[in-house]
Amino acid sequence: MTGTTRIADGTDPLGALTDRLGGIAYGGDYNPEQWPADVWPEDVRLMREAGVNLVTVGVFSWSRLEPRPGVYDWRLLDTVLDLLHAGDIAVDLATPTAAPPPWFSKAHPDAGPQNAAGTRLTHGSRQAFCPSSQAYARASDAMVTALASRYADHPAVVMWHVHNEWGNHNALCYCGTSGAAFREWLRERYTSLDRVNEVWGTDFWGQRYGEWSEIDPPSETTAFRNPGQELDYRRFSSDALLARHRAESALLRELGPGIPLTTNLLGTLEKKVDGHAFARESDIVSVDHYLVSADPGNHVDLALNADLARGMAGGRPWVLMEHSTSAVNWQPVNVPKAPGEMRRNSLTHLARGADGIMFFQWRQSRAGAEKWHSAMLPHGGTETRTWGEVTALGAELAELSEVRGTRVAARVALLFDWHAWWALELEARPSERLRYLDAVRDWYGALWDLAITCDLIAPDADLTPYEIVLAPSQYLVTDADAESLHAFVRGGGHAVIGPFSGAVDVNDRIRGGGHPGAFRELLGLVVDEYLPLRVGESALLSDGSRAAVWTERVESRGCTARLRFAEGPEGGPARGGPAVTRHAYGGGAGWYAATALPAPALRALLGEACREAGVAAVAEVPPGVEAVRRAAGDRGYLFLVNHTDAEAVVPVGGGCTRIDGSELTGSVTVPAGDVVVVREAPVAHGEHAANYGEGS
Ligand code: GAL
Repeated sequence: MTGTTRIADGTDPLGALTDRLGGIAYGGDYNPEQWPADVWPEDVRLMREAGVNLVTVGVFSWSRLEPRPGVYDWRLLDTVLDLLHAGDIAVDLATPTAAPPPWFSKAHPDAGPQNAAGTRLTHGSRQAFCPSSQAYARASDAMVTALASRYADHPAVVMWHVHNEWGNHNALCYCGTSGAAFREWLRERYTSLDRVNEVWGTDFWGQRYGEWSEIDPPSETTAFRNPGQELDYRRFSSDALLARHRAESALLRELGPGIPLTTNLLGTLEKKVDGHAFARESDIVSVDHYLVSADPGNHVDLALNADLARGMAGGRPWVLMEHSTSAVNWQPVNVPKAPGEMRRNSLTHLARGADGIMFFQWRQSRAGAEKWHSAMLPHGGTETRTWGEVTALGAELAELSEVRGTRVAARVALLFDWHAWWALELEARPSERLRYLDAVRDWYGALWDLAITCDLIAPDADLTPYEIVLAPSQYLVTDADAESLHAFVRGGGHAVIGPFSGAVDVNDRIRGGGHPGAFRELLGLVVDEYLPLRVGESALLSDGSRAAVWTERVESRGCTARLRFAEGPEGGPARGGPAVTRHAYGGGAGWYAATALPAPALRALLGEACREAGVAAVAEVPPGVEAVRRAAGDRGYLFLVNHTDAEAVVPVGGGCTRIDGSELTGSVTVPAGDVVVVREAPVAHGEHAANYGEGS
């Protein structure tokens, strides 16, 4: 395992790549097989016009490249790669393994994924394979070997793109092959069947297994499934795809050494695979992000996902591999982006550490399932608004080239954990209204409002760079990760922990001694009872706001209450009790929210914890204006993104200029809907202030 720190020749792989491109990576998925050959030269010409310097090729072209088993046809890629190279457009060459050809499914009918109801899914879409199928493994390894052998030395190829969005459609397979692989996975993890019985608590409902062969995937059954089994099946399923990822990566590294490797991750769009595990295997972390057009806060979700990408990249720059120029085609109503929105989206990703801005896809399809999905070059061609914005963005990214390689320094970390997400949302919890992403989004949103930057990191990540660690929803926590948080606080850090956290161990088994098991000592309290609220119910808080969804009856064991549920019936089932607490622990403090706090109360809590920890806003911005700093050495860039309909005036320090060099005196005006990048005055001797989180 090489992880994101794999640096082939002592350099940062993404830095080396953007050096080679001569700037920030810009482009998208290029699917030339959808078009006749005479269109390809025009594609290259227009790519150059738009400032494109990198395209992802071949993502779904397996059936073209291997039209019959073992018979390869390289004419398409030979021609297209040469054309692109001649046009000075570099290639992120994808393994086409997300789209096994129809011949594969016909030859191996049992290699299709099977759903929980027992239905075998057929080809005709994409990712129609069982992650544990040996036939699929053999066929895809052969394809990857042939592809890498042919193109590893092609001068256009600058990056390997492994598969496409692992697990997007087929992560959970319940077939017999998956069952056998699941049993192997369990043997390796637990060694003995007794241990499996113990950690899954199979004595409940008489589920005790006497033979390994009795264990199946948790497919549809009469009532609740065993939660330990369900949780391990999630882990196994993610690992099964990770094994495929590793197999492809090993072939690519062997046949094309020195070419950095990535796979496009899905961030919060994908619950089924553990994004951190895949990110650790990438030389360059890349992610896809799509806005939900009906969500008025979708720009905050974008920022959250960008900060997760950076967290997965260990703070290094990363690549936005896909987003859309305008409408997508997979939401109930697919509303185009408003003029200027795509630019705001792209520059926000850049602000948060992306050194590559890419789209799905280059040329809008005229047939197939995604013909109504926007692209860089729309159906209407170069006369369209989208094309105008695409070319303008290409030019602007070229002007912003000096920003690449700089980093976003965060002093706040927010734990983002797929295992906790899986566990919290298993069946038969105290409330199905307590959702993992809701909590993460609420807490992240409060920080966004405060203009405080955070990294979204795995709970086993190094916490030492941070002053504050937020755990909005850590229902499941391992002993080691709980201890790491304790050590962080003992050493002077602040931990702010959300409701229903710490309740269970790695196997979803209740931690003894009272809730919140893993965090009792850190928080100096015990939760006597979890008290979820019904739809329409709320609990009045002592600051006058109201909490919905969830409350808890908390008893202090040393903590002090910072906010309470109101006395009397309006205070809800935990009336009069603590709603927010603080506990001095070691050199730091453990804070707890015993309810899903409404936005103002959450802002107040996080604001207070940040103040205590000495973490300030990046800049003094009005509501709805986003501020992020990228910096390296003595250089700093302040990105200001105005999401409002009114112009904003933001104070800036002395010596700041716009990117074009024009002087700024004391403040900068950011017009409505606009983005301004401020080049800050160089800081003499040492690191830029941002790296110490001192704000501007
Ligand atoms: C992504 C996928 C692309 C395309 C896009 C449409 O999930 O990787 O191939 O389907 O969605 O939004």
